[in-house]
Amino acid sequence: PTPIKSKIVRLVNYRDKRVRVCGWVHRKRDQQDIMFVVLRDGTGYLQVVFTGQTNKTYDAVTLQLEAAIELTGTLKLVPEGQKAPGGHELVVDYWKVLGPAPGGDDAFTNKLNEQSDPSILADNRHLVLRGETASNVLRLRAALLSAFRSTYAEHDVIEVTPPCLVQTQVEGGATLFKLDYYGQPAFLTQSSQLYLETCLASLGDVFCIQESFRAENSHTRRHLSEYTHLEAELAFINFDDLMTHIETVICESVDKILANPATTALVKTLNPSFTAPERPFKRMSYSDAIAWLNEHGILHEAEDAEGNTLKDADGKPVMVPHAIGDDIAEAAERQMTDIIGKPVFLYGFPAELKAFYMQKMPRKEGETGPVFTESCDLLMPNVGEIVGGSMRIADGPELLAAYGREGIDPKPYYWYTDMRKYGTCQHGGYGLGVERLLAWMANRYTVRECSLYPRWPGRATP
Ligand code: 4AD
Ligand code: MG
Repeated sequence: PTPIKSKIVRLVNYRDKRVRVCGWVHRKRDQQDIMFVVLRDGTGYLQVVFTGQTNKTYDAVTLQLEAAIELTGTLKLVPEGQKAPGGHELVVDYWKVLGPAPGGDDAFTNKLNEQSDPSILADNRHLVLRGETASNVLRLRAALLSAFRSTYAEHDVIEVTPPCLVQTQVEGGATLFKLDYYGQPAFLTQSSQLYLETCLASLGDVFCIQESFRAENSHTRRHLSEYTHLEAELAFINFDDLMTHIETVICESVDKILANPATTALVKTLNPSFTAPERPFKRMSYSDAIAWLNEHGILHEAEDAEGNTLKDADGKPVMVPHAIGDDIAEAAERQMTDIIGKPVFLYGFPAELKAFYMQKMPRKEGETGPVFTESCDLLMPNVGEIVGGSMRIADGPELLAAYGREGIDPKPYYWYTDMRKYGTCQHGGYGLGVERLLAWMANRYTVRECSLYPRWPGRATP
């Protein structure tokens, strides 16, 4: 009888038995009378030994890396002291090539390695994905998404799938991808937040894992034109509850990864020094952050009234201290997180810097200066902002005034405004950039390594 077919990860059940395994040639080593192959099937890696007749066929001589093969053989424990993935190896007695791969100059490994030109790596992302690092990042990504889903389930937060084609903006008109929708203007969604808010009175607390799109002409380590956005919205909470919830969900999801030996191994391979963050996370108000930046001599680029960067005689940007009302730019934020070295919530940003829907902080008597909002960004070392959240304006007239201030036509938002008419409540939520979270956890230089097929200005292929 044909022996049973097994995935590599399940082979432990078949020691000393005959099995059939399919996969791709990951590594190959030829010796005189023996050939070793490391087989890869996506679930793991298996050492395979070809001896005697199995090593003398034409196929064995022409076998190339990345060929797809089927093998039948006996699974043997490797002697102690010898290393093999899983502690065993397959001694082959019959095999065939299912899909050959080119050798010589056309071989995948001759073409691509970590030192290859970034644009060649990007063009060949479909082949790069077969490498150990890229596939480990994708595996960790899958584990994280599943950990978040189970954490939300434990907190009674329900998953929904909002639309990507929309006719309203959330985070400002400047970063919208516009398209023609049967003769009407429409956009690719920037955030599912407004839709999540409408679900509260239907499902209670909700979350979604949905692609968001930003036409941002930023060639930075942390900006994508399309990214996976994990967003949640919670009813009957206050601002403090919101920050505590964000911290809880992230920490409990990370704990799930570290409670499982297989996913811990993934993290440790990618980021050997990773440890779970300590709770509670540090919280720093926007005003204190501005003071902190100045105490640490962290400057930012000066701008004129139109928002253009001021240049000195040598054409270098003029650097000035931070003042209340200034945006904390990516560079300053990164320096800050590098010094602090652990997660930190910045909260209470000026309304001027933030989106129209954010709840304002109550003003103290006689207070002047900017109006602050119940908003927070969670910053992580090496990455900076990974979460943006806020309490939302719950009052109808206040929301109408906010549209007006931003120059937003309230008409297309009638459904969002209606929420304030039919049983409004205090509520808030947040969005987490999945690629940024992964860049932090897997210690990747850029979010481009954390997306299956990353998109950035000028790149939508493969
Ligand atoms: O701070 P943002 O723009 O907030 C929102 O969109 C809110 N409406 C979310 C909400 O409250 N439901 O985006 C949230 C997060 C950021 O903190 C960042 O991690 C990620 O989304 N993000 C990006 N990730 C990659 N590339 C980009 N261009 C991103 N823009 C935002
Ligand atoms: Mg933000």
